[in-house]
Amino acid sequence: MKILITGATGFIGSALTSYLLSKGYVVNYLTTDRAKIKDAIRYHGFYWNPAKSAFDSEALVGVEVIIHLAGSSISKRWTAKNKEEMTSSRVDSTRFLYQILEAQKHEVKQVVAASAIGIYRDSLTEIHREDSAAVDSGFLGDLVQLWEAENRRFEQLGIDVCLFRIGMVLSKNNGALPELIKPINRYYGAVLGSGVQIHSWIHREDLVYLFEFAISHQLKGVYNAVTPHPVTQRELVYDLKKILKKPLLLPRIPAVLLKLVLGEQHVLVTASQRVSADKILKEGYEFKFPEMGKALANLLK
Ligand SMILES: NC(=O)c1ccc[n+]([C@@H]2O[C@H](COP(=O)([O-])OP(=O)(O)OC[C@H]3O[C@@H](n4cnc5c(N)ncnc54)[C@H](OP(=O)(O)O)[C@@H]3O)[C@@H](O)[C@H]2O)c1
Repeated sequence: MKILITGATGFIGSALTSYLLSKGYVVNYLTTDRAKIKDAIRYHGFYWNPAKSAFDSEALVGVEVIIHLAGSSISKRWTAKNKEEMTSSRVDSTRFLYQILEAQKHEVKQVVAASAIGIYRDSLTEIHREDSAAVDSGFLGDLVQLWEAENRRFEQLGIDVCLFRIGMVLSKNNGALPELIKPINRYYGAVLGSGVQIHSWIHREDLVYLFEFAISHQLKGVYNAVTPHPVTQRELVYDLKKILKKPLLLPRIPAVLLKLVLGEQHVLVTASQRVSADKILKEGYEFKFPEMGKALANLLK
């Protein structure tokens, strides 16, 4: 089967691409950076640029599934300009893909797209399921709603749409984990915010398997891409401190201070989202790393 991936060169996309190639899929990918275009056996890069309406039609030939991951990083400072880029790189790129599929002959049957648990409201008590109406009223909530709505439009073309609301993705060398480890290793680690806020997370390996599961099981609809065992910020920092064998010398850093330093972006560490994995478990997906202890032991071995 031939799959077209956007955002294939990123943190999730690169691991996903390697896995799909190992399973025998043919991977075409779209990149906005000509320097990242490669052509190898079952692996073909094509230039696109949604902002310039640039697209190489060859990329779509024989493609049955699109995995849509493209989006500029939300870890950058949340300036007005960066926020605009975070939104347009997701919403406009999705609209551009829709326009291409509407206008061109194609064989695409399914779109599997990234979304984020940032859509859910900050709450210590609520359990967020896919049909939860408790939507975040800040920038992330607005962005994810627009992004998902744009992705759902593919259904109007008779294409199945599967959306993964992805939690904090853990991997050894990239993403959130190195950022969590660095301060602890350098003796300025601390519990951030109240410490009781809940992080819903997933090992990158499980996330990669989930995308393939969505294709092989022809999933459609929204699914939370998180493990069944979220952790509190305090549990996470203490687990890391134990594994890294480092003391925590600093006291807890209050949310108000994080807000002062990080601005609106502080929600990325202080917000609490207990997100349910029940729906994907009911589909029969078995997590390889359901618990934080095992995930960290694997990642930091
Ligand atoms: N990592 C997480 O913890 C996490 C959690 C929740 C949701 N997600 C979502 O999952 C998706 C993939 O995440 P990731 O961590 O792999 O992100 P990433 O490493 O930042 O990669 C995203 C990719 O998007 C492409 N891109 C960037 N700006 C673009 C633009 N203006 N137009 C079109 N493409 C653009 C880039 O590919 P090219 O340079 O090749 O064009 C880049 O490689 C993102 O949409 C992200 O929001 C991630």
